[in-house]
Amino acid sequence: MTYTTESIRKKFLEFFKNKNHTIYPSSSLVIENDPSILFTNAGMNQFKNFFLGYEIPENKKISSIQNCIRAGGKKNDLKNVGKTSRHHTFFEMLGNFSFGDYFKKKSIIYAWELLTSKKWFNIDENKLLVTIYEEDIESYNIWRKIIGLSENKIIKTPNKKNKSENFWKMGKYGPCGPCTEIFYDYKKNIKTNYLKKNKILQKKYIELWNIVFIQYNKLINGKYLKLKIPSVDTGMGLERISSVLQKVKSNYDIDIFKNIIKNIKKLNNVKQNNKKSIQVIADHIRSSSFLIASNIFPSNEYRGYVLRKIIRRAIRHGYSIGIKECFFYKLVPVLIKYMGSSGKLLKNNEKKIIKTLKIEELKFSKTLKNGLKLLKNEIKQIKNNKLDGNFVFYLYDTIGFPIDLTKDFCKEKNIKIDIETFKDEINKRKKISKEQKFNKNNKKIFISIKKKTKFKGYNFYQYKSYIKSIYKNYKLTTKINNFEKGKIILDKTPFYPESGGQIGDSGFIQSKNGIFKVSSTKKYGNFIIHTGKLISGKIKIKDKVVSKINFKKRKLIEKNHTATHLLNSALKKVLGKNVIQKGSLVNDKKIRFDFSYHKNLKVNELDEVENLVNKFIHKNKIVKIFFTNFKKAKKKKINFLSHKIYKKNVRVVSIKPFSCELCTGTHVKKTGKIFIFKIISEKSISSGIRRIEAITYKKAISFIKKQENNLEKIKKIVKNKNLNLILKIKKIVQNNKKIKKENKKILKKYILLKSKKILKKKYEINNKKIIFSTLYDESNFTILKIIDEIQKKNNSVIIILINISKIINLKIKISKNLISFFQANKILLLIFKKINGKGGGNKYISEGIIKYYKSKKKIIKKIKKIIFSIIK
Ligand code: SER
Repeated sequence: MTYTTESIRKKFLEFFKNKNHTIYPSSSLVIENDPSILFTNAGMNQFKNFFLGYEIPENKKISSIQNCIRAGGKKNDLKNVGKTSRHHTFFEMLGNFSFGDYFKKKSIIYAWELLTSKKWFNIDENKLLVTIYEEDIESYNIWRKIIGLSENKIIKTPNKKNKSENFWKMGKYGPCGPCTEIFYDYKKNIKTNYLKKNKILQKKYIELWNIVFIQYNKLINGKYLKLKIPSVDTGMGLERISSVLQKVKSNYDIDIFKNIIKNIKKLNNVKQNNKKSIQVIADHIRSSSFLIASNIFPSNEYRGYVLRKIIRRAIRHGYSIGIKECFFYKLVPVLIKYMGSSGKLLKNNEKKIIKTLKIEELKFSKTLKNGLKLLKNEIKQIKNNKLDGNFVFYLYDTIGFPIDLTKDFCKEKNIKIDIETFKDEINKRKKISKEQKFNKNNKKIFISIKKKTKFKGYNFYQYKSYIKSIYKNYKLTTKINNFEKGKIILDKTPFYPESGGQIGDSGFIQSKNGIFKVSSTKKYGNFIIHTGKLISGKIKIKDKVVSKINFKKRKLIEKNHTATHLLNSALKKVLGKNVIQKGSLVNDKKIRFDFSYHKNLKVNELDEVENLVNKFIHKNKIVKIFFTNFKKAKKKKINFLSHKIYKKNVRVVSIKPFSCELCTGTHVKKTGKIFIFKIISEKSISSGIRRIEAITYKKAISFIKKQENNLEKIKKIVKNKNLNLILKIKKIVQNNKKIKKENKKILKKYILLKSKKILKKKYEINNKKIIFSTLYDESNFTILKIIDEIQKKNNSVIIILINISKIINLKIKISKNLISFFQANKILLLIFKKINGKGGGNKYISEGIIKYYKSKKKIIKKIKKIIFSIIK
């Protein structure tokens, strides 16, 4: 049996579908608002809430094929790619999950059945062995007694949660638990003597399938909290199982990779000994394409920086194997072609991926060229055959020229590098950049101040306080002068700092001597920071001030924020409890709400959501705010965001009986203040995540008014009086279609007639057939069609058509077999030597406009004369 990667995907899902699992699509590579991970790194990520018991799935058994990235974050295989035949920065993970349904026994039996049963993957049992977490006696007994493995095929690893290979964690914190792994051996017999140490094990065998028993939630403080519902999370790398079933030695030899690699080799007749670089390129084109498809773009920060690193690493390897031109983006169509069903996401984003990669590559190749030029110049001047470490650092740090390339270049020329100085400089840089990072994030910069800013904005829109600190260009200072930008910290403030999706307040901070205009407010640690500009006078530290927020703006924000809570509840009510908030933005203009849902929303579902929100607005419910204990809130099933870290005492915003959420935001006192809620768009923003945009209050009314006006305009345009407008438009569209069809037919007939007529008057000079004809007021389309028609009937002809409308237009067409004698563009130029005009074209067809003529007739005669004399 042959197993293509695509058939393995299908079989895997089919197996679990047969076992009553619900199939979920892969989630996006980016899990918004989950600071515990940088990218999706396992199939279980999207189900974090199910594992923690915060949400309950409709079916407790789920299976999926998840796109994963293991680069940049805690799980990082970037450096292993190219070194081993098993690691990837992007891979697909086949997984099955149980949330309080089956546990250890069934999950092990399922995995074994799928791998070894003749009906499924039919792998020889003798080639498999397993590892277990030492204290997990239950798993040991299942492998030993139910599956029947001999003792030497069950390897125990030490039971240290923080060190064991058999204790799996999702990220810095979150769901985790002991695991049992299934390994595959390429050799015939498994020797017992090298089974004891895991490191050796990993070299001789490949890990195929990891079955994790999620039993704990690792907390931020490092403690492990036992979960009430033990669950199962399994994961098998698609590329690895494919290499086993396709009987090839390396993941890079499986069908998907083989074709990508073939294309890389074609790029530059790349030779076999460049295997490492080719594998790096083949792997990195996958991760970069999938990341761009997930709306990550190369940048110098955060996720974008990891993507930039991946792209540049690939280009660098391309460069080192002698590819001279931009190549990386050219691999995208091949990748899409061979990624099978998983390539759909790429196909939908193909243009974006290609454009992004191309721009990044062009940018980087400029850096490379520049660096190489500098390096060559420097080498001309070096002493003692040693390249100055300071220069190497300059190349690396300022120019961005990769150190590996400097090393390679020097090695080729037999030049040593002063690596000590280079390393010293790097270390200095690291120190500085750490400090700069603090500045940038503003997290530690304010640590010197012990007290915190008191937020007074729940009850006050203006407040008297004094200036505690002032920052200019991220540096602590004592005053801000007129028109200077800066940041201010007060002891107390009514300005709400951006948080929980709600934007920060803007407004003014006024002292006796100056006015500071606040454009944004953010929270860093315990401090609220007002960013803005001094617009009059000056302001200095310890000044007494009155801070006033933009009251109107805040009121609009509050309406939108409360409406967001109602929307969240309405979505859960209409679409089911599985809808999980994935992010939100609340400002004075609109609401943006992202949530997990796997299908398009139907029109009636959207209507229902909108109606429900409006219903609770019109009931004018009281928005109650109170504090409670986080544990109690969880028990009461108050809505909260699982990725967020909450304090012991939490603030609850409740609109009985419909909505209850943990929230620090500001809200209206009664829902009637929102007045009206209107959804303006609904779309998918990444796989499994949808976005609703909505507006409230006056914005919603003017939106509806605008729609109404447009409708009136449409009515006027279509001259609709009392008839049903939709019916009328439908009729117009249908009619239009009919007319278009008829028009096409008439035009066809007309073209036939016209060309027949033109053909009647043929000239012949030197055995060459010439058509010279004048047309009146024809469209460009018709003229070209007439030319086509004439060509169909005469395959060796020179066609000159002059169309007279407000202007005189001239078209020359030469049949292919006459090109060696005459070229359309050249004839046009010769005409323009004698007649004033302009135009252009190629040797087959050219076109021009005649300028400044007194008599049309005369000019046509003149053209004819010129052309005929050329042909003679
Ligand atoms: N989460 C586990 C892993 O990534 C099993 O899927 O290995």
